[in-house]
Amino acid sequence: MDRLSARLKQAGPDDILTAMKTKIITIDGAGCGDEDLLEAARILREGGLVAFPTETVYGLGANALMPEAAQKTYAAKGRPSDNPLIVHIAEKEAVYGVAAEVSEAAERLMDAFWPGPMTLVLKKADIIPKETTGGLDTVAVRMPSHPVANRLIRLAGVPVSAPSANLSGHPSPTEARFVIEDLDGRVDVIIDGGPVDIGLESTIIDLTGETPTILRPGYITRADLEQVTAGVRTDPAIAGPPAEDLVPKAPGMKYRHYAPKAQMTVYGGDPEAVRRRIAKELAAAKLKGLKTGVLCAAEDRPYYSTDVLKCAGRMGSDEEIARNLFRCLREFDEENVDVIFSESFRGGRLEDAIMNRLMKAAGYRLVMVDEEGI
Ligand code: TXA
Ligand code: MG
Repeated sequence: MDRLSARLKQAGPDDILTAMKTKIITIDGAGCGDEDLLEAARILREGGLVAFPTETVYGLGANALMPEAAQKTYAAKGRPSDNPLIVHIAEKEAVYGVAAEVSEAAERLMDAFWPGPMTLVLKKADIIPKETTGGLDTVAVRMPSHPVANRLIRLAGVPVSAPSANLSGHPSPTEARFVIEDLDGRVDVIIDGGPVDIGLESTIIDLTGETPTILRPGYITRADLEQVTAGVRTDPAIAGPPAEDLVPKAPGMKYRHYAPKAQMTVYGGDPEAVRRRIAKELAAAKLKGLKTGVLCAAEDRPYYSTDVLKCAGRMGSDEEIARNLFRCLREFDEENVDVIFSESFRGGRLEDAIMNRLMKAAGYRLVMVDEEGI
């Protein structure tokens, strides 16, 4: 089977896509190849799909004002259409066009953190179709700081909806090669702007209720937000596995996400005990003939004898760990490991965001290890 038939087979029978030729545009250090970007912007405006880099992860852009463009986005990703898209804008003033109400708290947050990795959920304006917002009366809005994203949205002249540019259920892409792996033949254009800076998706804050509520932790932390607006809470539904009586307010958070193909378990507790326990699990898995993977801090590299070892970053270097996490998960897949044993990455500024993605990737399989390593 060639690559295309394999992809269409994977897409399933309801997939309305027909194979298309994807144009890959590479932006080099010299600047933003304006002619190519102009063409990509035209395609976006007219209802096509264009994947582009942002500072968080790559996004799959479409015209946020066109219902058909949203439908195409869901089909290309294989994503359920009740999972709303984030609307991206290039300047702050555009928020008044896509949202019906912009509170004082929203103003303060935008002034503090835009352009940047923060998404605000607001009441939606009529101009945004329900297809874009997965049927909701609210709209998630973000102004990315990445120069290519900003330029593309500006040239398109319309708000741009963009989920992460991966097939549904795969880790979000932090490099264009991962977008190509998932979406080549399913979208019109992929813009390669090199590896992203942050590596985890934006912080989402719901401002439609009484209290600002974090629906997805990210690079902008609760402490950062509290510097600007008082009394921020975190949606309790995002702490654990999807439960029927606790429905997350960000519909996307209920789906299994960020998942590598191998079964992954996270180990928590005393670091020395965790290392001993993982070493023991590795020996047991080897006896069963399984291909093993370990995800650990760089300092712990010497402790493990495993088929595949990935270091997310040095202990406590949260920005490095965030930047590498999704790439490591994808590379485990590339190496076809059967089981992944992961250390926890706790104690730093981005602990909430990193552990949220790690636990989701592990399907919330967490083993707490006591001092004896059992
Ligand atoms: O950093 C990011 O946010 C990236 C880049 C491309 O901007 N985008 C991204 O989009 O992560 P996506 O679609 O993969 O995740 C968006 C999340 C989903 O969990 C979705 O359910 C939630 O945002 N969301 C979107 N609109 C919402 C709304 N109106 N109310 C609540 N949650 C919403
Ligand atoms: Mg996503």
